[in-house]
Amino acid sequence: SQNIYILGIESSCDDTAASVIHNGKILSNVIASQKIHEEFGGVVPELASRAHQQNIVPVVHQALKKAGITKDQLHAIAFTRGPGLMGSLLVGTSFAKSLAYGLNIPLIDVNHMQAHILAHFIDEEGFEKPSFPFIAMTISGGHTQIVEVKSYFDMTVIGETIDDAVGEAYDKSGKILGLGYPAGPEIDKRAQQGNPKAFPFTKPKVDGLNFSFSGLKTAILYFVQREVKANPNFVEENLNDICASIQYTIIGILIDKLKRASKQTGIKHIAIGGGVSANSGIRQALKDGEQKFGWTTYVPKFEFTTDNAAMIAIVGYLKYLEGNFAEQSVTASARLKI
Ligand code: KG4
Ligand code: ZN
Repeated sequence: SQNIYILGIESSCDDTAASVIHNGKILSNVIASQKIHEEFGGVVPELASRAHQQNIVPVVHQALKKAGITKDQLHAIAFTRGPGLMGSLLVGTSFAKSLAYGLNIPLIDVNHMQAHILAHFIDEEGFEKPSFPFIAMTISGGHTQIVEVKSYFDMTVIGETIDDAVGEAYDKSGKILGLGYPAGPEIDKRAQQGNPKAFPFTKPKVDGLNFSFSGLKTAILYFVQREVKANPNFVEENLNDICASIQYTIIGILIDKLKRASKQTGIKHIAIGGGVSANSGIRQALKDGEQKFGWTTYVPKFEFTTDNAAMIAIVGYLKYLEGNFAEQSVTASARLKI
């Protein structure tokens, strides 16, 4: 069985995505991102489900077309079962079930958080796959999690946020500063031109490997309000330094926890994923970690870090090899655990 084609479908949040994988290699990776949420500065669940409904058939059609295959050549359909927004998950789940039923091929349920991690196992030139065991840190607008990965499907969450996700911390800070949504990329860009020690923010005290970012957001809000009272142009005059200071604090929090996780588990292989792994500060800090702590670090190709269906397809392929299929009665699960 060395000629397996699997369709992956992702609809857990605000991206409708489909991808075809041939064995371990991605043939197509199509995403319809929903612009509508920018006006609201965050994802509006009801609007997200409606857009998925509209996009899903065209996106799947595109993915098959770009891969150069027809639906009749597929061996299985993999879909995101959870976690995510229920209304969004239902669209992908129902579509995947119907398609697998119609084609009379296996259906494979995928955990979105496992998929962010297993994206590292997509065959991609120039990208090395992590060796087991490794520590995975998933950082995005919706997630902040540290996972001990013993094998493909033997994973344990050893730390996670107790409130906001790290991307949310970026986006909410950006909102306070009057930046557009999502603000992460702009804060990152400005941070590289600013002084990271200009405005010190205290790091939250959270036990173990868990994270908290809501206090930082409030600290930034109060700081900006106070400074603006004294100087109405404070933000404009210091924007790069403010961004650099926020970034310095956030990266410090992430690296502190990674160091702790590595010490606690004795694992020095560290893989990151999720949209925030595009951040220049975290990338530099990981490189430094290779020098300072003897880490081996892995960052996937950018298009496999943000929400995408290629990561769903690779999990589909790995599960297909194990004959690990879902029943047609499977249901979406908003709070699905790893
Ligand atoms: O994975 P993703 O595309 O979507 C989900 O949240 O699932 O991640 C988007 C998040 C946003 O919060 C965005 O501000 C953040 O990732 N982000 C960044 C950078 N690029 C994207 N945060 C910091 N630095 C970046 N370069
Ligand atoms: Zn995600």
